[in-house]
Amino acid sequence: MANPPHGGVLKDLVARDAPRRKELSAEAEKLQAVVLNDRQLCDMELILNGGFSPLEGFMSEKDYNGVVEKNRLADGNLFSMPICLDLGEEEIKELGIKPGARITLRDSRDDRNLGIMTVEDVYKPDKKNEAEKVFGGDPDHPAVKFLFNQTGEYYVGGKIEAIDRLMHYDYVALRYTPAELRLHFDKLGWSRVVAFQTRNPMHRAHRELTVRAARSRQANVLIHPVVGMTKPGDIDHFTRVRVYQALLPRYPNGMAALALLPLAMRMGGPREAIWHAIIRKNYGATHFIVGRDHAGPGKNSKGDEIYGPYDAQYAVEKYREELGIEVVPFQQMTYLPDSDEYKPKDEVPKEIKTADISGTELRRRLRTGGDIPEWFSYPEVVRVLRESHPPRNKQGFTVFLTGFTNSGKDAIARALNVTLNQQGGRSVTLLLGETVRSELSSELGFSQEDRNRNIARIGFVASELTKAGSAVIAAPIAPFEKSRLAAREIVEKYGSFYLVHVATPLEFCEKTDKRGIYAKARKGEIKGFTGVDDPYEAPSGKEANLVIDLSKENVRTAVHQIVLMLESDGLLDQL
Ligand code: ADX
Repeated sequence: MANPPHGGVLKDLVARDAPRRKELSAEAEKLQAVVLNDRQLCDMELILNGGFSPLEGFMSEKDYNGVVEKNRLADGNLFSMPICLDLGEEEIKELGIKPGARITLRDSRDDRNLGIMTVEDVYKPDKKNEAEKVFGGDPDHPAVKFLFNQTGEYYVGGKIEAIDRLMHYDYVALRYTPAELRLHFDKLGWSRVVAFQTRNPMHRAHRELTVRAARSRQANVLIHPVVGMTKPGDIDHFTRVRVYQALLPRYPNGMAALALLPLAMRMGGPREAIWHAIIRKNYGATHFIVGRDHAGPGKNSKGDEIYGPYDAQYAVEKYREELGIEVVPFQQMTYLPDSDEYKPKDEVPKEIKTADISGTELRRRLRTGGDIPEWFSYPEVVRVLRESHPPRNKQGFTVFLTGFTNSGKDAIARALNVTLNQQGGRSVTLLLGETVRSELSSELGFSQEDRNRNIARIGFVASELTKAGSAVIAAPIAPFEKSRLAAREIVEKYGSFYLVHVATPLEFCEKTDKRGIYAKARKGEIKGFTGVDDPYEAPSGKEANLVIDLSKENVRTAVHQIVLMLESDGLLDQL
C-alpha cells in the first residue's frame, strides 16, 4: 500500500473478527456487560474500525503512561491521546472486572453488543498529571473539566474482539470506515489526498484554504468533519453536514470528497493535532491541514487563550519525520477586500486592508438576521445556516407568569394569547395553571414536591414548544423559586424565557375573588392554599423580567408591557 496506516497494519477489528462473529456474539450474551456512554462509544467506533490503528482496544497502563508522558505507546509507536475505558469503583466490583476477565462492551443507545474485551489491567490514573501533561492543566479546559467531573476513577485496559459495528441512521452514506475510504480513493484514482479536519461550518476562507493546499501538493481534498462529539456549544452536526453538502459543488468538479468522522474531540490543541493526523493517515489521506488554532478550546475564565494560535503546528512539526502523513500548515486565512481574494496572513503585506467575521460575530448576525456578505460565505451555505438559526422574529420563546390565584395572571395570559395570535407568524400555546393540572398533572397534589413536579412538566413542554418555534404562555402559581429557575434553564436551551411576576397583593386577590376560593381556604375546606396556609416565594428583582400589579394597572397595560418587552428583544419584528 502506498500510504500505510499508522503502525503498518490497519486494525479493522470488525473485518478481522468477522469469521468468529457468531461465536463471540453468543459468548457476549453470557458475560457481564459494560454499557458504553457517548464518549466511550465514539472511541469504541474508531477502535473497531481501525481509525485508531495500531490500537486494538482501550489502553493498558503501560500504553497510557507512555502516551501521557512521551506521546508513545509501549511498542514505541507515536500516539498522543489517551484512549481509555473509564469506570467507577462500584461498577468494577459489581461486574467482576479484573485481569483475565472477559466483558461485553455494549451500546447504550440500542443495547447491541459491540465487542468483548479481555481485561489486561485495571488502574487508577493520576488525573492531575494527565490534565497537566496532555491538556496543559488549565482547569477551564473542557477536557480537564470532563476528566475531573465526568470520568470514572479507574481505567480498564485490554484488547477487544469485535462483534459488530455501531449503527447509525443519519447520513449513513457519508460514513466510511478507513478501509472503505481507502477503497473509495482507489476507485477515484486519488493517490494524493489532503484531509481537512473541521467541527465548524465551512465558508469561503475554508474553501480557499483547502484548494490552496490541494494545489500546492497536487492533491485532492477530503473534507473530513467531526460528527461525534465536539466543543460544547458548537453548531450541531446535522446543520454542519448540510453546509458541507451545500459547499461541495463550489469545488472544481471531482476535486473534493466528503466523509464523516465519528470522533469524540478533546479540544487538545497540540496533542490533538498529532492525533488527528494519525487518524487521517489511517483513513488513507497523505496530507493533513493544520491551520490557525487547530482543535483549540478557546479562552479560559480569565479571558486568556488556553493555547497559542500556532501551538498545534509546532507540535506536529516535532514529529514530522515519523508521522507518515505530511502536515500542511496554514496561517490564518484573511480576506483582502481590495483584490477580493483570500490569502494566508503571512503573505499579506502590512499596509493592505483586511477583513474578517469572527465565529461570535457570525452567530450574532444569524441570531439577528444581520447581513452575511458574499465575500464571507456562499449564499447556499448561509441559507442552510439560517434554516437552523431563524432570526429572532421566527424563534420560539416562553412567557412564564407567576403569582397568587386570582392575581390576574390568567386574564393577562389569555389576553396575551389573542394579542400574539393577532400578530401571527407563530403558533401560540396557552398553558393555564388549571389546564395543566387537568391535562398533564391530574394525579399530582399540592405538596412542595408535587408542585415542583408540575412546574417541571410545564418547563419541559414549554422548552420543546420553544424549540419548535412557538410562543408559549404559561400561567401556573409556581410558588417555589427553585422550580421557576429550573423551568428557565430548560427553556433557555432553545429560546428566550421571560418571568413575569404578577405581584397583585394577596388582599386584593382575595377581595376580588368572585369564585369564593379564598373563602373556602380560609374556612379550611381547601388545605395547602398558596397565600393562605402555603408559602409563596416572591421572585427577586433579579429573577423577574417584569413585575405587574393588577391592583394598580389593568390587563391591557399589562399585556402592552409584555409586548414591549418581547419587541425590544426583536421577537415581534414583522418580516
Ligand atoms: S477545529 O477545532 O476542528 O480545529 P475548525 O473547524 O474551526 O476547528 O478548524 C478546522 C481546521 O481549519 C483547523 O486546522 C484550523 O486550524 C483551520 N482553520 C479554520 N479557520 C481558519 C482560518 N481562518 N485560517 C486558517 N486556518 C483555519
